[in-house]
Formats: sequence, structure tokens, C-alpha cells
Amino acid sequence: MTTTTAEPRSTEPRTAPATTAELRSADLERRIAQDPAGFRVLTGDRPTGALHLGHYFGSLRNRVRLQDLGVDVIVLIPDYQVITDRDTAERLGEYTDGLLLDYLALGIDPARSTVFTHSAVPALNQLMLPFLSLVSVAELNRNPTVKDEVAHSRQSTVSGLMLTYPVHQAADILSCKGDVVPVGLDQLPHLELTRTIARRFNERYGKLFPEPEALLSAAPLLLGTDGTKMSKSRANSIPLSATADETARLLKGATTDADRHITYDPDTRPNVASLVLLAALCLERDPHEVAAEIGDGGAAALKRTVTDAVNSHLERFRARRAEYAKDLTYVRSVLRAGNERANALAEATLDEVREAMGAFR
Ligand code: TRP
Repeated sequence: MTTTTAEPRSTEPRTAPATTAELRSADLERRIAQDPAGFRVLTGDRPTGALHLGHYFGSLRNRVRLQDLGVDVIVLIPDYQVITDRDTAERLGEYTDGLLLDYLALGIDPARSTVFTHSAVPALNQLMLPFLSLVSVAELNRNPTVKDEVAHSRQSTVSGLMLTYPVHQAADILSCKGDVVPVGLDQLPHLELTRTIARRFNERYGKLFPEPEALLSAAPLLLGTDGTKMSKSRANSIPLSATADETARLLKGATTDADRHITYDPDTRPNVASLVLLAALCLERDPHEVAAEIGDGGAAALKRTVTDAVNSHLERFRARRAEYAKDLTYVRSVLRAGNERANALAEATLDEVREAMGAFR
């Protein structure tokens, strides 16, 4: 018997086989869709700069989607984590206001979702003590994300907080018994540690904590205007808070290449591909089609297309953000109310923890 095994003719790159984490995440997504109200999401952004388009397509719009599905979404602004890799927490208030404005303008609804900061929730921070007793120094030393941050740190020594902040992150998640944590790949080691802490606590003192699961974001890799990963602490990002003119100027300065024929080829032309992808995401179109339409127009036409796409996509967001910016008293009251709820949740958890441990009253 003959079989036809001809390769399918496709211009699509082969997709890599799904990893275990991806399969688990897809299964979690199905369970959330079946019972959204049965899940609590905990997620957050360090207040170290302005949120940018990479955050928007990678995580922010996913939060709003989960909220609108009916999931209990809690957004943490982890202010204590700012001092893991820098000496001082500069402009903390300004960055925190900026995050709040972005969240509200994007559609995070304070009637349904909660926003809070670490430093306003003492019970959360106290959970760090019992949790530290559940992990070994060797485990802390092995964390690949921490190792990477140490290697890239501008500081000459590694602080105790740098080594232990993943335990603090476990306190973030477990203080409110979050069971879903949307993450990028770099955060998986931290989530693994959170699960380990939850499991060890439950084994030693009786079942109290859920083992939170990772919801992997299918984060499209958007490069910064200098061709490296877009980052809020590098000067290469396109902040959501930029005006239409600033956005045009930033995109105009983006690195491209000498080939006038525009294609979507992330492996061989990462800079051009990233711009094409950004336009495609805003236009909700296929990047190959967007590239084909620009054709021989070169970098100038590509940049015009991207700029128009980004600016019209963000028009409504910008208008809403500007409205909220006129009323910072209201914006800050959203955080105050969120902190109150986070305190109530964390205090209840801390009470249960002490009770379970039996020794502390
Ligand atoms: N460590 C995360 C980051 O650098 C931020 C963070 C702190 C976080 N606590 C968290 C994320 C709890 C999810 C859940 O991006």
C-alpha cells in the first residue's frame, strides 16, 4: 500500500511542539471559560516606569478580558519589589499614578476588580516570615530568573531582598489565595516556588492554600525602537501614555534595515517584523498581509502604516486617560479602596496561617 506523505505546502513556520506549561495553561483557559467566577487572578506591574505597547498586547488587555468574563481580577502594584535591584524607589508616586490611569483607561473596573500596593498591606508582608522558613537557601540560589537579574544588575552586591523576593511574590499571591497567575516565561520559576510553598505549608500544617496555576500569555514579542526587547526601564519603549505626536516621533526613530521590500520575517528581519506585527495587532490583521500591502514602500511607508494603526487603536484609550488624569483624587481613591480589600483578604489569611501553625497568637 502506498501512502502519500508529501509535505504540506505552507509558508507558515512550523509551530514548535507545545510544552507542558503551554498544555496546562490551555487546559486552565478552558476551565476558566466554564466557570469564570470560580477563579481569582493575581497579577501586577512593578512601578518602575510607564507601561508600554508590549505590556498592552502581552498582558494588559488579557486582564480586562478576564475581568469581563467574570473572573475576580486583583492587580498588584508591587512597590517593595522596586528595591530588589536598585538602591532607591524613585518617582514611586508618579509611576503608581501612571499605572492607575492606564488601568482605568484600559477598562479595569474598580467595581469588579481590585488594585493594591504591597506597602499598604502589612499582613501580606508578614506572611514572608513563615514562608521563608519553608524554602532552602539552595532553592533560592537556583532560581534562574533571579540569577539573570543579578547578572544584569547595576548593583555591585546582591541584597537579601533580591534573593528572597520570589518568596515575597508567593506572599502576594497566597495572601489573597489567587489561583491563576498570568505570566510570561520568565516568571515561571517564581510561580513554581509559590506552588512549592503552598504545598509545603499544606503538608506541614493542614490544607489552607490553593496551588496557583500559570496562565501563559501568548505575548507577541515586540521589540523596542532600538531593536532590543521593549522595556519600561530602557529608553526604547512606546509608552501607552505618549501622545499621538510623541508616538509618531518614537516610531520614526525605530531601527529598520536597508531592504526596501517589506516582509514579515521575524527570524531574519526582527526589527521590520516587529513593526509589521505591531501594525497587524492594532489592525487585527494578518502580519503577512500587512507586509504585502506595504510591498516596496520601504521603511517610510511601513512607519506611516504603523503610526496610523497605533494612533487610531489608542484614540479612545487616550481620551479616557486624559479624562481620568483631570481627577487624580478619584484615581487615588480607587487604590485606597483596593488596599482596603487587599488588607481584609490578607488579614484573614494571616489569621488562618497562625491558627494552622498553632504557635502564634
Ligand atoms: N515579579 C513580577 C515582575 O517583575 C511582578 C510581580 C510581583 C507579580 N508580584 C507578583 C506578578 C505577583 C504576578 C503575581 O513582573
